[in-house]
Amino acid sequence: MSEKNHRRILVTSALPYANGPLHLGHLLEHIQTDIWVRYQRSRGHECHYVCADDTHGTAIMLKAEQQQQTPEQLIANVQAQHCNDFNDFLISHDNYYSTHSEENRYFSEQIYQQLHEQNLIAERSISQAFDPEKQLFLADRYIKGKCPKCHAPDQYGDNCEVCGATYAPTDLIDPFSTISGAEPITKESVHYFFKLPEFHDFLTQWLSNDNLQPAVANKLREWLDAGLQEWDISRDAPYFGFEIPNAPGKFFYVWLDAPIGYMASFKHYCQSKPLNFDDFWDQQQAVEAGTELFHFIGKDIINFHGLFWPAMLNASQLRLPTAIHAHGFLMVNGEKMSKSRGTFIMARSYLTHFKPEYLRYFFASKLSNGIDDIDLNLEDFVQKANSDLIGKLVNIASRCAGFISKRFDNQLAQQLPNTELQNALLAESSTVADAYEQRDFAKAMRIVMSLADRINQYIDEQQPWVVAKQEGQDADLQGICSQAISGFAILIIYLKPVLPELAENAEKFLATSLDWTDLDKSLCGSTINPFKPLLKRIEIAQVEKMLASNTEEKAPAKVAKQQPEEAAKSSTEISFEDFAKVDLRVALITRAEQVDGADKLLKLTLDLGDQSRTVFSGIKSAYQPSDLEGKLTVMIANLKPRKMRFGISEGMVLAAGSGDNEIYLLEPDAGAKPGMQIK
Ligand code: MSP
Ligand code: ZN
Repeated sequence: MSEKNHRRILVTSALPYANGPLHLGHLLEHIQTDIWVRYQRSRGHECHYVCADDTHGTAIMLKAEQQQQTPEQLIANVQAQHCNDFNDFLISHDNYYSTHSEENRYFSEQIYQQLHEQNLIAERSISQAFDPEKQLFLADRYIKGKCPKCHAPDQYGDNCEVCGATYAPTDLIDPFSTISGAEPITKESVHYFFKLPEFHDFLTQWLSNDNLQPAVANKLREWLDAGLQEWDISRDAPYFGFEIPNAPGKFFYVWLDAPIGYMASFKHYCQSKPLNFDDFWDQQQAVEAGTELFHFIGKDIINFHGLFWPAMLNASQLRLPTAIHAHGFLMVNGEKMSKSRGTFIMARSYLTHFKPEYLRYFFASKLSNGIDDIDLNLEDFVQKANSDLIGKLVNIASRCAGFISKRFDNQLAQQLPNTELQNALLAESSTVADAYEQRDFAKAMRIVMSLADRINQYIDEQQPWVVAKQEGQDADLQGICSQAISGFAILIIYLKPVLPELAENAEKFLATSLDWTDLDKSLCGSTINPFKPLLKRIEIAQVEKMLASNTEEKAPAKVAKQQPEEAAKSSTEISFEDFAKVDLRVALITRAEQVDGADKLLKLTLDLGDQSRTVFSGIKSAYQPSDLEGKLTVMIANLKPRKMRFGISEGMVLAAGSGDNEIYLLEPDAGAKPGMQIK
């Protein structure tokens, strides 16, 4: 790769959906991007990093409704949470914006107009499933019914989880809308399509450049060869998004305006900076300005970024990405993240138990430039933190700093006794730099840790603690310790993109800046500050606590407010006989429905193995009916039936929570069968 003296780079991470909190999968992406960005900045390049929340679509609209909020309120709250999490993980976005912004509306309309003028938008009527009660067109994921083959209930519209059959949603027996429970009807409406097939030659050309990883280019070529389809870019009202110009009641599909959100965020950022937006986005001007654009994304969204987006850009005389950097998925302990095992780790949950840099280092040590999945093995996580970060890195400073402050008034030696060692450390700078540039962070970390080994070996051989006790050896002692600390400074320069906070503290300790551009500075003769511990060891018990809190958060001990007076408020003692009177059973939720006119209730149909029960439960604010169907829970089966405004409730399901928006239905461990008694 040719080394330009001063690069002008714009970098993005994919825009997280605004419908929930961030988890460690999101963080894998943002940490990867952030390390690369910080590396570029450390080299003295101009590197801007923007992102935003992806706020549009049906899911966000329904979620807001369910929480009795406006979508605007929901996305504002989520954005505040996301920003907090990213800050605490030391992600250095220059701007974190929202796709629900005027800039984004402007660019979306402008790009659409350009496509329209070039006759690249087709208009035709299609028929789709429609929820007659909710008056809403239904995407396939909102339709369930009985499998046409094995008649298993509650199967989604594309395949049966019980017998594995695949089919179309129209084949389902007794289909129902998971939103209202109503039977969908088929309805026609006009949709707008982006004529992707016209970009076949352009995309063939685009895929032959080396701006994509080979595995990604191959996958995209497969799609291209299979024949491009026109892309449906409109959705009918009601929809939370931007209305299409001159098409009342039609909205841009969320994936149309999402990537445009990259531009919108950068535009917003430019307004407060002496930066020319067109230098980075105009097709012509970007070439003249020599700017670069990189998108970091997960491998699940490469079609949007590698096919649709370049076609849109090309048609709008906008610049193309310099490269797209895709990564694999995060696994925990070798498996997909799982809520029931507590391994679906939320960003905030990690942060309440650990400092961000352990994870930043762990991810760095695992990330290469491929799209293989990354495994967060939690024992490995603890081991790497302790043996590499503390045992190898921080140890160098803590073994030597004391002598410098106590015996030499914080002053380092005028000369290093072993220039060969210092040069050997410096000699790796271009290899480490190259590894960062290529996103082979694992390689960079391996090299740096092997250098740390060499410095520790030097200390072991020189035995400063022995020299310290010998008369007349002061100069030697100062030399050895200065040698080790100078080496430590180089390692911190190499690691600063990964460990920005630790590096900042090391800068305070060494009273100097530690950027790549400082590599040729010598610390000899300088005065440093007393050493303070930079990082603590971590324990596996902390990991266990974190996992427990991820499962526990779902089940603090309080009964949800089904009927307020029944909620357990205090804990007076009861006898075992009293307890034994309560018939607790495992129940399968076969159906969950909205209740007309009820704010908080859902109507649940429960299967107890030999009988079925109807229960009204005040859990509407926390669950989509569709998410409940098929779930096992726990119910009180011998509660006297209660007549309620909406019908008779034949029992009660158990849920935990602290308020209306925090309700967690209890769920037995895998293997439990409907009807089993709980003792
Ligand atoms: N909103 C879209 C992206 C629009 S970009 C114009 C989206 N959002 S997402 O929240 O589902 O995912 C955001 C990013 O996080 C994606 O790049 C996705 O691949 C990544 N990840 C989400 N879960 C992940 C893991 N478990 N592991 C690694 N990355 C994953 O897609
Ligand atoms: Zn089936």
